[in-house]
Amino acid sequence: MSIIGLGIDTTFDDTSVAILRGKREILANLTLSQFQDHEEFGGVVPERASRKHLEVINILIADALKKAQLNFSRIDYIAVSNHPGLLGSLLVGLTVAKSLAYTLQCPLIGVNHVEAHPYANVLSHGEMRFPILHLVVAGGHTLLIKARGHFDYKIIGRSLDDAAGECVDKVAKMFGHAMPGGPVVDSAAQEFSGDAFDFPRPLMHKNGHNFSFSGLKTAMLRFREQNLDTSFSGVNELNPLLEEGPILASFFQSVVDVLLHKTFKAAKTFGLKNISVSGGLAASRKLRSAFEEESDRKGINLFYPPPNLCTDNAAMVTCLAAHRYEAKQFDDLTLDAFPNLIC
Ligand code: KG4
Ligand code: ZN
Repeated sequence: MSIIGLGIDTTFDDTSVAILRGKREILANLTLSQFQDHEEFGGVVPERASRKHLEVINILIADALKKAQLNFSRIDYIAVSNHPGLLGSLLVGLTVAKSLAYTLQCPLIGVNHVEAHPYANVLSHGEMRFPILHLVVAGGHTLLIKARGHFDYKIIGRSLDDAAGECVDKVAKMFGHAMPGGPVVDSAAQEFSGDAFDFPRPLMHKNGHNFSFSGLKTAMLRFREQNLDTSFSGVNELNPLLEEGPILASFFQSVVDVLLHKTFKAAKTFGLKNISVSGGLAASRKLRSAFEEESDRKGINLFYPPPNLCTDNAAMVTCLAAHRYEAKQFDDLTLDAFPNLIC
């Protein structure tokens, strides 16, 4: 009989619970987004996020068991993201996970949320083809990871300042869009050409495999300042002759160009023929088609998950934990939560 894991993810502003049979069969994967709860504050309020996780986590676990048509007695292990993220939010998931593992007397497996993102590809495409280069483009992290096997990986590139997702969200916010800004920017990039305006492509040809996106955000800030309509009484309005769509499309073209160039350069440098893209930004149709075209041209095997597995979800966390379960890598009840990425 296959093992069954229950996984919890409360790293940021989504509460997610999944139940997985074996390493790939999703029996339940339920996610509640909090973004409407934070909308009036213009960003995620950590204290509020923890409280919201606490309000819904037990209900979500009950719903997941119901969806999977199982009771607690069938659960073989409990998985939980214990870093990186908002400390208060992480502690809610971790405390619930520890209580469950203790009560059910089953193994507890703490998971690095960022390491889990590429495992969304295992759920959708089957076992990973090693060696592989992972581009993780989540809200808080932009990483290039070279993996030789499960748990055998090295971060070869990271953003030195803002993550790509963070930059996209902040630019969308400048234009008055609510969080998360990625979908709106991606829609603009689908509809309009990315050639109308020339925004910088920071570090595209420098600094090894590292990224930097804060300069691009500042360039957009300057662009807006230079194009404010001073004749209009409402300050901070863009010149009405400038359409928002082509501006956002050109901005996103810069983001995609940098991600694409750096990823394929790293693949070439390390002689890697498999690339996986994961994290919320990987849901972007613009980014996916650019990566597909380049992979076809270069003879690379490209993997990306369906959109619902790109954004935060507990199924990817449980999938990584299922591999850890097989390797008998368990944690005990002293497991702690950490806001930073540790690896
Ligand atoms: O992986 P994720 O859900 O959360 C973190 O682990 O941080 O990523 C969130 C990021 C946000 O920047 C959001 O705007 C972006 O993913 N995102 C998208 C799309 N859906 C979410 N970006 C582009 N196109 C989308 N469809
Ligand atoms: Zn994430």
